[in-house]
Amino acid sequence: MGELSSQGHLADPDDIGSNDSGNPGFDSILQARLSRRQVLGGVAVSAMGAMFGALSAPAMAASASGAQQRGAAPARARLGFNAVAKSVADSLVVPTGYTATVLYALGDPLAAATAPYRNDGTDTGFEMRAGDHADGMEYFGLSAAGAPAPGSSGRGLLAMNHEAITQHFLHVNGASANPRPAAEADKEIAAHGVSIVEIRRVGASFATVQDSAMNRRITPLTPIEISGPARGSAMMKTAYSATGTATRGTINNCGTGRTPWGTLLTGEENWAGYFTRGPADDLARGNDKSVTSLNRYGRRQGAASRHGWETTANAEPYRRFNISQLGASPDGADDYRNELNGFGYIVEIDPYDKSASISKRTALGRFAHESAAFGLLGAGKPLAVYMGDDSRGEYIYKYVSAANWDPRDASAANRIAAGNKYLDHGKLHVAKFNDDGSGRWIELDIANPAIANWAGYRFADQADVLINARIAADAVGATRMDRPEWCGVHPVTGEIYVTLTNNSNRRLEPGAGQLGLDAANPRAYADTRAASQSFPAKSSSGNVNGHIIRIAEAVGKNAARSFKWDVYLFGAQSDADPARINLSSLTAEQDFSSPDGLVFSRATGICWIQTDDSAYTDSSNCMMLGAIPGRVGDGGNRTIAYTRSDNSVLKVGAPVGKPATPDTLKRFLVGPVDCEITGLAETPDGRALFVNIQHPGESITAANIAQPDKYLSHWPANAGYGAGGANGRPRSATVVITRDDGGRIGI
Ligand code: FEO
Ligand code: CA
Ligand code: CA
Ligand code: CA
Repeated sequence: MGELSSQGHLADPDDIGSNDSGNPGFDSILQARLSRRQVLGGVAVSAMGAMFGALSAPAMAASASGAQQRGAAPARARLGFNAVAKSVADSLVVPTGYTATVLYALGDPLAAATAPYRNDGTDTGFEMRAGDHADGMEYFGLSAAGAPAPGSSGRGLLAMNHEAITQHFLHVNGASANPRPAAEADKEIAAHGVSIVEIRRVGASFATVQDSAMNRRITPLTPIEISGPARGSAMMKTAYSATGTATRGTINNCGTGRTPWGTLLTGEENWAGYFTRGPADDLARGNDKSVTSLNRYGRRQGAASRHGWETTANAEPYRRFNISQLGASPDGADDYRNELNGFGYIVEIDPYDKSASISKRTALGRFAHESAAFGLLGAGKPLAVYMGDDSRGEYIYKYVSAANWDPRDASAANRIAAGNKYLDHGKLHVAKFNDDGSGRWIELDIANPAIANWAGYRFADQADVLINARIAADAVGATRMDRPEWCGVHPVTGEIYVTLTNNSNRRLEPGAGQLGLDAANPRAYADTRAASQSFPAKSSSGNVNGHIIRIAEAVGKNAARSFKWDVYLFGAQSDADPARINLSSLTAEQDFSSPDGLVFSRATGICWIQTDDSAYTDSSNCMMLGAIPGRVGDGGNRTIAYTRSDNSVLKVGAPVGKPATPDTLKRFLVGPVDCEITGLAETPDGRALFVNIQHPGESITAANIAQPDKYLSHWPANAGYGAGGANGRPRSATVVITRDDGGRIGI
């Protein structure tokens, strides 16, 4: 997702860091040099040439427990498809022997009475159409009778996020300037949120069920409960909820997760940008601590809102997008000064039950959420949920439930009640990565003196700690990472994989507001993107191509306070310097940039890696790769030598995974021009894979709307889907991928 900059080019708003904490000290890593022995820390690492060959019986049992981990046992340790080449064509490419079919695209109807999408800017009624920018996605099986059936592969619900909008394509002549017409604002608001759409197997593929009674949209106006420790907090009071117990809607939903009891978790990511603050709002607030919080979450006074919805009218539902202190009340119950505290959560939705309440799970902290990945389940053991905060220099978090897992809850009749049990009471932790390959989970608790006595912000209570989790994480010295995106948990080893997409602020010699190198974020370099048919030339610096870090929990597993880690893979172009950039020795069939989505298949064990890139788009559109990773410690230490401007040398050591082989990492899919590949779900039998193609051709100006030859993409209209043909407006869409011989995907 992104916004047009003055160059007419996309600048990702989640690239904008607002972490001024100074964690960690640059000096602390200057002498970091690791030996392989230190990295492995004495852990016995068996040869994992066959990924699933070395499993212990308890590991297999853990992997098979719980409804969300059903599926055929992983059988092979080799990827069974032919790698696809990089591509800059405006088409979707999958391997020979596979078919990708568009299933559900922006504007598609969700009710019998909703007209087909004309795709010309005239369509309305997005409350019952597919939203824009499809992102994270989960599959929920249905029985033939339409009841919840997690193991069903023939009929199910797809629940997916609609993160953002390609604004101009929603209107006939592009978007109007402020003040925004109500008809435009209403359409844009409704195109955000979440879709739940029924799908059924039809022949070899799938189709949506337009008249399904289970179809629904959740939008930024849907009533939602504030749940967990921050429910009822004074910091939650608004003109909508004087008791601080409710808010409206969810926005900028990025990654997803699926609970063991069969509900959707959706992460609110770049929500802050939708709200404006007046130019003198700091003073209006008496420069109180709310100003510190707003600044830390990226809303400085004078910040404009992304789409200007508050300019439509100083009335509901638009006025909430101005979060300035405007009212006279002492507590904020007469304005929306606290509105931002109601966003930034993991939100739980029961996809099977329209009447169930939707809950923002405040116990999991407030930040720019991506996915929410559960650690392996163990009966009688706490649950763990792993999460990233995607902004430059932000943190990786782990939530540990107070309740121990009861396998009977996998089939709970009241799924939101199960969510209340496991997700409203627990401990939130943040990760600190040590340079020796060890790490710690630090609990974010008001009882911690480092938090209670933090000079930068005076926390009132635990609700305040969770609402301002970033500040609490600053206080305990968490490690500032290169934009944590999705987390995924290996279904057998239980190790946690986190994509770190890139960081334009990482530097060998950091200036103000920049970050130095450390073992967990060990690369900074310059890169050039050549001018191409679609994009102008561009220079980048920092961690340009991103990497994937992985974590092995120590004894105690989900509740562990310490871990070991290494870097699983570094993104790079294959011809980049192998000593400083292409440290994973990627070949032309494996090279990628800016990993973002990361999902392990429960049916095959394949780790699917998706990209959201703008650095390597001279060579390829965004893509998805299949991987069969080993485990933490299967490689060795790498030392990257940097020469500073004064010719002194800095050596940064990092534990790095075993290089991938042609059998363990291959490119599986390349998308159309100017898209991001994101979101992945599968049927439990592993024979259908659902993937989202987000915002093809999003680089568009209002001036070019009338000139289809200026569109960077016409997909999927140019592939015959929906209206528009070869000149059609591009649309975000969900595709279903099947194997022509009916087999499982990828193996
Ligand atoms: Fe929505 Fe950080 O990607
Ligand atoms: Ca390049
Ligand atoms: Ca993402
Ligand atoms: Ca991204």
